Amino acid sequence: MDQRDKNTKNVLSECGKTERAEYIRRVCDWNDDFAEQNGRRRRAYVLTFGCQQNEADGEKMAGMARAMGYEIISAPDTADLIMVNTCAIREHAEKKALSVIGQFKHIREQNPELIIGVCGCMVTQEHRCEQIKASYPYVSFVLGTSSIHRMPQMLWNYIQKHKRLFHPGDAPTVEEGMPVHRTSSYRAWVSIMYGCNNFCSYCIVPYVRGRERSRHPDDIVREVRELVAAGYKDITLLGQNVNSYGKGAEWQCDFADLIARLDGIEGDFWLRFMTSHPKDASRKLIDVMAVSRHVARHFHLPLQSGSDKVLSDMNRRYDTAKYLDTVAYMREKIPDIAITSDIIVGFPTEDESDFEGTLSILDTVKFDMLYSFIYSPRKGTPAAEMPQLDDEVKGERFNRLLTMQNPIAENINLDSVGKTLKVLCDGESKSNSALLSGRDEKNKIVFFPPVEGTASAEYAGRFVNVKISLAEAFALYGEIV
Ligand code: 5AD
Ligand code: SF4
Repeated sequence: MDQRDKNTKNVLSECGKTERAEYIRRVCDWNDDFAEQNGRRRRAYVLTFGCQQNEADGEKMAGMARAMGYEIISAPDTADLIMVNTCAIREHAEKKALSVIGQFKHIREQNPELIIGVCGCMVTQEHRCEQIKASYPYVSFVLGTSSIHRMPQMLWNYIQKHKRLFHPGDAPTVEEGMPVHRTSSYRAWVSIMYGCNNFCSYCIVPYVRGRERSRHPDDIVREVRELVAAGYKDITLLGQNVNSYGKGAEWQCDFADLIARLDGIEGDFWLRFMTSHPKDASRKLIDVMAVSRHVARHFHLPLQSGSDKVLSDMNRRYDTAKYLDTVAYMREKIPDIAITSDIIVGFPTEDESDFEGTLSILDTVKFDMLYSFIYSPRKGTPAAEMPQLDDEVKGERFNRLLTMQNPIAENINLDSVGKTLKVLCDGESKSNSALLSGRDEKNKIVFFPPVEGTASAEYAGRFVNVKISLAEAFALYGEIV
């Protein structure tokens, strides 16, 4: 109880006299009464699908729930509040979320007091919000991506009236001062901007996350400084297109300037960022990275396709020559940089020779790792209106892409054999309890045994040096030195 009180007090002082603080206070009182009568606090479970931006939003929802007096739990069965943070990037993500929301019906039947809130990108689309309204009557409220700060208000209104509420969208703003309940005590997400202006023709994000807007650099520097002081070691700056950070703002600070400011913070930590758009990834940024102390030698630069025709149809506004030029500059300035990318196969206008263009770029660039996706039509986007390719063609190209990429990744990883890497340990490996797992500066997963006599739990969140003895396409193995 003491911890909850302290947390709530901190949050309320951060939120000041905002409306949000008032709703947090009300729900908190309601939860206090419950705890007094029942000898336990109400419990909240937050389930997040999708990208890191969603993870960051989920941590804010959990932060608000905690400030409202809920205990945060990691399974839904005994929850009094379930928040489902949905994704809409591909059809599969939506199907998964809908199926899980369907399963929560049983928990609600056993506990009619259970409150279920659905938020995130999926329900920001009108048709999905309507679907929840019509087919999931046990969902108490719906909140869009730009409305998550309203969670305390929605909850309070629902508690008062028991009337279902649907709020798919506010005018997008930059909300500061939301409490955050971080999942990890050493890896942290920091949103630096929200929304996207690019309207790539396949992508739903600009429709569900609104136009680009950036947080003030002072707020970001303060947050990162606090994280480093609290012992965070791996901090990832998030935005749909971090390279357009600061555009249109009243203050002057572009992304490279921001990185330079953050690099001035003292401490032993890595700084990462995602995602970069190749049309905006500047030489200035690469120059800043090259002399930085904290920025990880890793660049995620989504290519999407290796065909200029397809890139144009995707509305990406760069061509393969521009992409290759940026890669060459990165490698000139930071020779051992790891480069990773996103590829979409089966875009509607992709023919066999376009796809071969993608394979050819894989061979030229030699990416450390690829996140590859089969194109999924998204309602309301231009590409969804184009004649579509057969699933068979898409599947066959996807497999060929993986077959091409795996030996490339393995070859690159073989270079690490015999080298000693600094690794941030995550604790016991989920797949083999005799091993620890962690990630290096290039974000590669590394497995290694604990030193004899030292418990695995002691390693989580610590940097260790690991000498690599074995490499695979997706993992490195070694021993602590
Ligand atoms: N179908 C398949 N993949 C997509 N992505 C975005 N939209 C779609 C879609 N409709 C991929 C892109 C992007 C990554 C986050 O998801 O590669 O970079
Ligand atoms: Fe989607 Fe393109 Fe924006 Fe990325 S840059 S979020 S792919 S529209």
